[in-house]
Amino acid sequence: MDFAAEFKHRIARVEAGLERLVPPVATRPSRLHAAMRYSLLGGGKRLRPVLTLTAAELCGARGDAALPAAVALECVHTYSLIHDDLPCMDNDDLRRGRPTAHKQFDEATALLAGDALLTEAFVILAENYAAQPSLSHALIRELANAASSQRLIGGQMEDLLAEHKANATSDELDFIHLNKTAAMIEAALVMGGIVGLAARPPAVASMEMRPGAVALPPEVLALRTIGRHLGLAFQITDDVLDATADTATLGKTAGKDARAGKTTFVSLHGLDASRRLAREHTDAALAAVAALPGDKIFLTTLIETMAGRAS
Ligand code: IPE
Ligand code: IPE
Ligand code: MG
Ligand code: MG
Ligand code: MG
Repeated sequence: MDFAAEFKHRIARVEAGLERLVPPVATRPSRLHAAMRYSLLGGGKRLRPVLTLTAAELCGARGDAALPAAVALECVHTYSLIHDDLPCMDNDDLRRGRPTAHKQFDEATALLAGDALLTEAFVILAENYAAQPSLSHALIRELANAASSQRLIGGQMEDLLAEHKANATSDELDFIHLNKTAAMIEAALVMGGIVGLAARPPAVASMEMRPGAVALPPEVLALRTIGRHLGLAFQITDDVLDATADTATLGKTAGKDARAGKTTFVSLHGLDASRRLAREHTDAALAAVAALPGDKIFLTTLIETMAGRAS
């Protein structure tokens, strides 16, 4: 397998899906749709949607069955970045190598573009899986939980509360990373798995469970474990890169965490321990891949590539 070519191919599928499933700029109000598309189509690694496509294929999905789920994930992720960059949050001017949405447009437009992308994600899921109600329901539930007050937004809240906090604890830091970042990476893999498994009737039946139940197919449990460890490794690496890389390479402002007094792996544990912990979580993610069916070489190489990334 030529990993780079395959990664490029999967990213191209995601880009085509984003282009097709998100309303065009001409849609009224044009300024809002222009801002949504500016942030959404302006680069980014596309890790989460590629994970969704990859997990779906490993679990038996055919063709582009998981593409709307992948696009929905990237919409929620991009919304979280637009809001994360706002002056009232991290106050960043640069994202994906370009001015942040509130710099390119204005603060109110950026706020609304984020709001709209969050909602659009659920429109995409509801519309594109309407013919498979139990699949649609499982995907909406997974994404809604990942983006909820107890996961993505809860992590963002504690991230802000831990700014300039001299006595921040390891428990607080773990909560922040597990929720602001790992939740969406878990959801990316799990949603892919759910699409793949929906092709198998008994698995769909077992997904129709009461809220809060955890009895899911073993593939989904493995995907969640991979996502949790990959997500933690990913955010620890983000913290390390913030402290060690330059702005041009990152495409976002370097050195921002220390200046903002953020509680990060680097501020709490130092660079060496952070790198060690990122490696441990990468290894744990790779170990959990073994429980999945199919040819896992693309997924394992992707996990390794994220561990060694420079931006
Ligand atoms: C940035 O995510 C926010 C974090 C969770 C660290 P990415 O590093 O995946 O950002 P893009 O999508 O590539 O811009
Ligand atoms: C944000 O973490 C994670 C999100 C949920 C957006 P960071 O604040 O560290 O992300 P960057 O460094 O701005 O991309
Ligand atoms: Mg932040
Ligand atoms: Mg930030
Ligand atoms: Mg960061």
